[in-house]
Amino acid sequence: MHSVIFDNDIGIDDAMALLLLHYAESVELLAITTRFGNASITDTTCNALIMKDLFGIEAPVFQGAAASIGKRLGEGFPIHVHGENGLGDIDLPAPQSKVEALPAAEALVEVTKEHDGEAIVIAVGGLTNIAQALDLDSNFAGRVKRLIIMGGAFGYNRHSGNVSPVAEANIASDPQAADIVFRSGMTIAIVGLDVTHEIIMDRPYMQSLRECAGEAGKFIASSHQYYLDFHHSLSGRFECPLHDSAAIAYLLAPDLFTTINQPVRAVTEGIAMGQTIHGDDLREYVSSAWDDVTESTICIGVDGPAVLELCRNILSKAAKIRD
Ligand code: RIB
Ligand code: CA
Repeated sequence: MHSVIFDNDIGIDDAMALLLLHYAESVELLAITTRFGNASITDTTCNALIMKDLFGIEAPVFQGAAASIGKRLGEGFPIHVHGENGLGDIDLPAPQSKVEALPAAEALVEVTKEHDGEAIVIAVGGLTNIAQALDLDSNFAGRVKRLIIMGGAFGYNRHSGNVSPVAEANIASDPQAADIVFRSGMTIAIVGLDVTHEIIMDRPYMQSLRECAGEAGKFIASSHQYYLDFHHSLSGRFECPLHDSAAIAYLLAPDLFTTINQPVRAVTEGIAMGQTIHGDDLREYVSSAWDDVTESTICIGVDGPAVLELCRNILSKAAKIRD
């Protein structure tokens, strides 16, 4: 059983990832921690509470960062990608569930104390809450079993940035927090654009979720219509990458991914702000910036169709039991 804290900025694709965590038989969802990103902190927290209500998710919701620790790339929220409400502007009920009083960073500290060495944190937004938890408690890094991040881009498979030629959105939304986390010594796996852009959902896939995955499938297909329209405006195709759910797939089926182990840094200023760069042990560099940084596991290849099948299986099996 995987004990998971889900740190997110819900978000169309974050919502699908949350449903996978909720329905995967081998996952115990301990807590949901929110952060600004795809929408304001008020909206992302509200979206988490609505997901709780709609799908009977029991994990408590803790509200996190409303702003980045350091300078971020860009401003405002990506309404053109996720809509005004962060969930593709589908009609949503007012939330009935209540947010917990404890701020997200403190919740990360407390929940990992209760599950010392067992809790896996999956972070699919910027890394502000995680950096704040590291700042609050010097033992936090050692208590987390593993941190799985959706974020970053290293240029594998010809995939680089999505908010600048080199920067991925989550890292770019708080590069300083990301660099703190990469240098923290935590056990980290990075699922970046190198692989998420190799896992492509199209209209027939969405239709299949709508048909075989019950209320969850209908919710995912409806909210993703906005996301597909955005990607259509970029590529001329109604296809979108599987970002945040790829981190869940990595948790559940790491064998579907090819990885390397290297120390990682995030660029915190200048025209490459938000870029993730890994070290290379083949050379002796003049720069010592990657020396003494613990290696992260970086996903550089993936069996995209198998990941899509995994996601559909989880959602459709659960729908049969729970709808
Ligand atoms: O770059 C993709 C990431 O940015 C995803 O986590 C998406 O939800 C957005 O936050
Ligand atoms: Ca996200």
